[in-house]
Amino acid sequence: MHGEVLRPARVSTATACGCFKSITDLPKFGHTKAMQKLLSLFDRVGGEQGVRNLVRSFYDNVLKDPELAPFFENASIERLYSMQYEFFAAALDGPVKYSGLSIHQAHFGRCIEKEHFARFVNHLIDTLRAWQLSEQEIHLLISRVNTYADEVTGSAVVAD
Ligand code: HEM
Repeated sequence: MHGEVLRPARVSTATACGCFKSITDLPKFGHTKAMQKLLSLFDRVGGEQGVRNLVRSFYDNVLKDPELAPFFENASIERLYSMQYEFFAAALDGPVKYSGLSIHQAHFGRCIEKEHFARFVNHLIDTLRAWQLSEQEIHLLISRVNTYADEVTGSAVVAD
């Protein structure tokens, strides 16, 4: 699967009268501004499959980055995809509960510096742009992700 750029499927389930069967049936592209406001970011990315594809595409880029790849040499990539799916689905306001390690525990002792964190976030921004989220939506998600900077880099004082 590595190397393959996965994009969310375009779904078009408009009925003859032009409405949609349910909110999750709405196509990701071509929403009116009013419709976009009603959808969670999770739905906008394409629901469960869309977020799973986004996570894989994002890690394809992270693992190709020579500055970041060494951190993941001994990682269980399947677990990482699975936990990151839950983490991002929850961060995108989806109906998913994150069940993994705390972000502090997962990164403790890995010597991740602010520069690594910034590269990681830049790959995320590039991936989100390829998913055609608006700059405002990307900004919202990145502000949420940025709140974990100190926990990832070990600068946080966390009791866990
Ligand atoms: C806000 C940014 C980040 C978030 C939200 C995040 C989230 C996660 C999550 C959810 C896990 C899985 C935890 C588990 O297994 O229970 C994980 C693991 C990991 N992350 Fe991050 N991460 C971030 C940034 C980074 C950065 C910048 C690096 C390295 C440059 C990194 C390297 C790793 C590694 C090496 C693992 C462990 C993989 C393993 O051994 O299975 N992460 N991260």
